[in-house]
Amino acid sequence: MGFPQHRPRRLRQNPAIRRLVAENELSARQLILPAFVREGLSQPNEITSMPGVFQHSMDSLKAAANDAAERGLGGIMLFGIPEERDETGSAGLDPQGILNQGIAAVRAEVGDELVVMSDVCLDEFTSHGHCGVLDANGVVDNDATLEIYGQMAVAQAQAGAHMLGPSGMMDGQIGVIRQALDAAGRQDVSLLAYSAKYASAFYGPFREAVDSQLQGDRRTYQMDSANRSEAVIEAELDIAEGADMIMVKPAMSYLDIVRDIAEFSPVPVSAYQISGEYSMIEAASANGWIDRKASVLESLLSIKRAGAQQILTYYAAEVAGWLKEGK
Ligand code: PBG
Repeated sequence: MGFPQHRPRRLRQNPAIRRLVAENELSARQLILPAFVREGLSQPNEITSMPGVFQHSMDSLKAAANDAAERGLGGIMLFGIPEERDETGSAGLDPQGILNQGIAAVRAEVGDELVVMSDVCLDEFTSHGHCGVLDANGVVDNDATLEIYGQMAVAQAQAGAHMLGPSGMMDGQIGVIRQALDAAGRQDVSLLAYSAKYASAFYGPFREAVDSQLQGDRRTYQMDSANRSEAVIEAELDIAEGADMIMVKPAMSYLDIVRDIAEFSPVPVSAYQISGEYSMIEAASANGWIDRKASVLESLLSIKRAGAQQILTYYAAEVAGWLKEGK
């Protein structure tokens, strides 16, 4: 007979014992809700490819921010959709532009109850839909874009953002934005760097969410999904340039990257469960093919297990409600 057998099933017998030994759990304080505000809307507008997610009017955005604070979420990440776009994305710099107005309105509602975050990127504001400005050959001009990002960051800080999320994947963006903020006396504003952001087909629904004008793709600046070690370099650069937190995006198809980065990062590591991840769960559960709530919780827990501390997810508010009810 020999040794008593190790029997892992002993610790799975009932919900109480499973709860006792669970290695990871979700908490509302680490969930961040991405939210879209669209200029000129008087009513929220549901995004067809993301049922249950809305382009907000200013009023519905404020309500969503209050609700997020009440539910104990960690933060809200704001994206703006302007009425007018141009070659250089100037509406992104305008203090009266839709995103800066949205930041100011949300901050006035929630104060310091919720971390107010905003997207530093030009794609929502440019007529060509790229994340930066183009050179004479139509190629995204890295360094000319950095200069604009610096100004955009300062405008968002002055509007009231606590934390900025540069998502354009330009080389050197964290360093330049940090310097611009410091020069403006805004050492207090922190940076959540989208360090390892991959060129992903799963962003599809987001492009509808922000009425993206993009023709073509972002493969000259976002990462190639074939690559792993490059993500480590990107994260190291961002940390060296002053990122307070870093992010991997998308989450689901990149959990190995989340793990790699979480192994060494001295700053908190986040992951973004993006639009396509949301839409897939919604579509499959609407068809009765998967159990919606169980799938949402499992998808988020897997991101936690991979090593992310914070998760940006369109499910943030709903999940916080579930957690409060004790499941
Ligand atoms: C760029 C940006 C994108 C997303 C967040 N910031 C789109 C892109 O890179 O094409 C995608 C988020 C999602 O798909 O949920 N400003």
